[in-house]
Amino acid sequence: MPNSGPFSPESIRIPNAIAIGNWARSGHSDSSTEAFRHWDEDGEIPATCATCHSGSGFRAFHGLDGSAPGNDQAVAVGGVVDCETCHSPGIAEVTEITLPSGVVHPVNGGEAACTTCHQGRAAGTTVAGAISGLEEDTVSADLGFINPHYNIGAATMLGGYGQVGYQYPGKTYSGRFLHAKPVATCVSCHDPHSLEITELTCLTCHQADDPMDIRISRTSYDGSGDVSKGISADIEANAEVLMEMIGEYAAEVAGTPIIYDGAHYPYFYADSNADGVVDQAEGRATRYASWTPRLLRAVYNWKVVTADPGIFVHNPHYALELLYDSIEDLSGPLGADMASMGLVR
Ligand code: HEC
Ligand code: HEC
Ligand code: HEC
Ligand code: HEC
Ligand code: HEC
Repeated sequence: MPNSGPFSPESIRIPNAIAIGNWARSGHSDSSTEAFRHWDEDGEIPATCATCHSGSGFRAFHGLDGSAPGNDQAVAVGGVVDCETCHSPGIAEVTEITLPSGVVHPVNGGEAACTTCHQGRAAGTTVAGAISGLEEDTVSADLGFINPHYNIGAATMLGGYGQVGYQYPGKTYSGRFLHAKPVATCVSCHDPHSLEITELTCLTCHQADDPMDIRISRTSYDGSGDVSKGISADIEANAEVLMEMIGEYAAEVAGTPIIYDGAHYPYFYADSNADGVVDQAEGRATRYASWTPRLLRAVYNWKVVTADPGIFVHNPHYALELLYDSIEDLSGPLGADMASMGLVR
């Protein structure tokens, strides 16, 4: 600061002003959201959650704060994804990330941070473990909804190799979506601070004003025959078909109609009398409890695909495969005719 005025504050250069401004507009800095406020009443964030929900938890997890790597301490509430999360000098030494599937994925400095937090909290193997040894269509009290968690773009991008989805035995799955070399990493499309996508990045190779309208595939995966719409529309359509079949299966095979309420965890509720209203017991919504292995894995895959709003870019083919296989799996006991639906895997 000058010793005396007059001076104009707007002419004083703030180092990193652009990065700070961009970050300040992004979700990473927004301390008002559920992703950072969820623990306010508890007063601290448990170690298992803090890795991704607070910069200080992240640093503790990777040992960037001088502690041994691994998280065993709760951290104070109030943190966000601060500058030091991605700019700690030690981050360059983080060379691999263990995914929920157990797959150990090699990363470079640029992606270590994103992959740590956007990998989700469950994998297809979590589901396979839960249903192992159980009869496909028999309700089991041991089963409960498994949530892949939220904004899991780093996991979906790794596809069949990262194994975030429930992968049906005997099927093969697309691996990491490498896209095209200049846009193969998170920050080649997302500004690391604003997190936004610059459309120009896409226009080099695609002709579409909106990423949702981009399509290269000449195959109509949803059976509509329309290959002028974006690939995102095929994914959306097949996700809807899967949700409808989940509803039919729950009512007809599992024996209890199901209701999905995206606004309230754990999202799936019982509707025993099929009146379209969630059952209530003692003033509380009744969680869905009639899970069969076949229902659990289909619901899990539906959630994986819809938990990543960018899956149509991050790994469109993996998404389509998970949806197709889940639909096919439910079609058996429902006696639905796959061929007449016209879907393509
Ligand atoms: C410490 C964990 C952490 C790291 C590291 C991290 N994120 Fe996030 N990210 C989050 C959380 C938590 C949210 C949700 C924020 C909210 O709801 O306000 C989020 C939100 C986002 C969003 C949604 C857009 C928005 O404005 O809400 C995008 C895109 C994103 N992150 C991309 C990235 C990329 C790319 C990287 C790596 C450069 C990265 N993230 C690194 C935890 C992290
Ligand atoms: C591997 C990283 C990771 C871990 C571990 C993690 N989360 Fe998250 N969580 C995220 C990301 C990323 C988001 C951002 C979603 C978004 O953009 O709103 C999120 C979002 C949330 C939300 C907001 C959901 C919504 O509907 O907006 C809640 C609540 C939440 N997490 C709870 C937890 C709890 C509780 C734990 C510990 C038991 C936990 N998380 C552990 C990464 C993680
Ligand atoms: C989610 C991770 C993440 C967070 C949080 C983050 N940065 Fe960055 N930052 C990066 C990455 C990755 C690059 C390298 C960009 C590239 O290679 O294109 C970068 C680059 C930079 C640069 C180099 C110039 C530029 O803009 O590309 C500056 C300066 C910078 N960051 C400052 C900050 C400041 C200040 C904050 C906090 C307000 C911050 N960063 C928060 C990931 C992050
Ligand atoms: C080829 C470009 C591309 C790459 C590479 C890419 N993304 Fe995305 N991502 C997108 C587009 C396009 C969207 C759609 C939403 C939008 O337009 O903001 C998106 C959406 C997201 C969202 C959800 C944003 C929201 O609105 O809630 C997150 C989180 C995210 N990406 C994280 C990542 C992470 C982490 C990586 C690296 C593992 C990554 N992305 C790699 C293009 C890309
Ligand atoms: C350097 C050229 C290039 C850039 C830049 C690029 N893409 Fe792509 N994109 C491709 C190629 C090539 C494919 C086909 C890849 C494949 O299927 O293996 C593709 C596939 C896609 C698909 C799947 C289409 C389908 O029908 O299967 C989507 C969606 C997509 N890109 C979105 C984006 C978005 C959004 C951006 C900008 C953030 C972007 N791309 C930037 C080259 C590019």
